[in-house]
Amino acid sequence: MEVLILPTPEEVGRVAADRITSVVRAKPGAVLGLATGSSPQAIYAELARRVRDGSLDLALTRAFALDEYVGLPVDHPQSYAAVIARDVVGPLGMDPQRVRVPDGLSEDVERTTAEYELAIARAGGIDIQLLGIGANGHIGFNEPTSSLASRTRIKTLAPQTRADNARFFASLDEVPMHCITQGLGTILDARELLLVAQGEGKADAVAHAVEGPVSSMWPASALQLHPHATVILDEPAASRLALADYYRYTAAHKPPAS
Ligand code: F6R
Repeated sequence: MEVLILPTPEEVGRVAADRITSVVRAKPGAVLGLATGSSPQAIYAELARRVRDGSLDLALTRAFALDEYVGLPVDHPQSYAAVIARDVVGPLGMDPQRVRVPDGLSEDVERTTAEYELAIARAGGIDIQLLGIGANGHIGFNEPTSSLASRTRIKTLAPQTRADNARFFASLDEVPMHCITQGLGTILDARELLLVAQGEGKADAVAHAVEGPVSSMWPASALQLHPHATVILDEPAASRLALADYYRYTAAHKPPAS
């Protein structure tokens, strides 16, 4: 795993946007895995800036969202379908027909989740999966004790996740209880993983993910099983890493590209 520790949240956004930009320049029809929430906002803002100034074109990319709340109407401003349309597809000039979000209103969840897996496979798999991390170590909405082999499915949101996400809703009661999320096995199938975290509230989860044992108690530790995972952090998010100086050292002395 490559760990990059950067001085500001804006730098985290810029360096992560550089990575996505280089994937798309090499493959204009690349398949992106999209995260929602606060963590990727600086990345989307930077990508949108590049699209506006003409240095990046995302019109041919395809994308799959990580997760969706169950039971929110798609036009609810906090449904991930609405968030992705508003904050990602529009500003990044993507084709809405090429972007999918799990159907949180499905009456046949088994079929919906199986179809989502199939759609990712038919698209050729995800080239680069963007990830945030929950304070409890979740990625997607794979809460603690999620199987490391799990696939897209319905899950119950942990109380901490509902409390953390209540800031997007009028009250805690309005935060849905359930979600559909790509599984950890689904996420690990992506060709490249890019996890970003900002702020001290993520420091514990980041330390467990990067330096702890691989354990379903800290689902993001599954990144250790992936051959091409990059973790981009600001200083507060990196503050509990035992080997922070070593990551700075290795970032400054990368081996020559082969
Ligand atoms: C959202 C998602 C979640 C978030 C995580 C962090 O699609 O998959 O794992 O990335 O809850 O959320 P923020 O970035 O709002 O702190």
